[in-house]
Amino acid sequence: MSRDPIVARHLPALRETLNAFRAANESVALVPTMGALHEGHLGLVREARRRCKRVTVSIFVNPTQFAPHEDFDSYPRTWDTDLAKLAAEDTDLIWNPGVKTMYPDGFASRIVTDGPAIVDLEDRFRPHFFGGVATVVGKLFIQCRPDVAVFGEKDYQQLRVVTQMARDLDLGVEVVGLATVRESDGLAMSSRNVYLSQEERATAPVLHRTMQDTATALRAGAEIAATLATGAARITAAGFALDYFEARHAETLQPIASLQDGPVRLLVAAKIGTTRLIDNISV
Ligand code: PAF
Repeated sequence: MSRDPIVARHLPALRETLNAFRAANESVALVPTMGALHEGHLGLVREARRRCKRVTVSIFVNPTQFAPHEDFDSYPRTWDTDLAKLAAEDTDLIWNPGVKTMYPDGFASRIVTDGPAIVDLEDRFRPHFFGGVATVVGKLFIQCRPDVAVFGEKDYQQLRVVTQMARDLDLGVEVVGLATVRESDGLAMSSRNVYLSQEERATAPVLHRTMQDTATALRAGAEIAATLATGAARITAAGFALDYFEARHAETLQPIASLQDGPVRLLVAAKIGTTRLIDNISV
């Protein structure tokens, strides 16, 4: 039976609830989100539930990971349905701080990321992004002190950056990545898919199909650069403005010269109309 989660909006309330969990010796998992929850997020919540006694979900649309021209203002905010979905998953605690709680007046510190944050993928097109993500996720980890934190593989570079940060800063949290949840036609679930027009939505699965065909060709021994170029041309021909389509080392995200340099991940980012989609698969 589902029950209403505790909702904390300020640090004292968050600490009180978490202290009670800790006093009872209960393990705590955190699922960081920006709300607008879909089946992909709920998969993360279920994984958190499998791994820990208590599940905390944070909902915070983090302004510092959006550039001024990006969609912070229009990012979907769906509190009532998010709450109902989390209640149905038996979430114990929702951490829903306001901007002033996360970034009080005079806030002046940030986490600077290197390694997988500087590999010429998302960082090339969204140079503000990983500083904002690392700082907010670092704060969430310190505030919630989870044993486990669960992230989707859909934001693959983000997963690598957060994993590296948690390790480098000894944050004492195990970062777990979960496979991307897809629509039946292969489109990766994303809160931003609501921006797609009907026509764009029909075209969007080309990204996943192209990655799959590219991975199949590479596994069969096709030359990497030429195969990626064929895939890139197909994505562009479908109507996307391509940011990148690359094969990288799955952990370091460094370029690879051959599949032997692997494990290998294909990563893509492309805009259709005004919506920017990202996706990735393993080879
Ligand atoms: O992936 C997201 O939803 C966000 O980048 C995260 C990890 C919640 C940080 O704001």
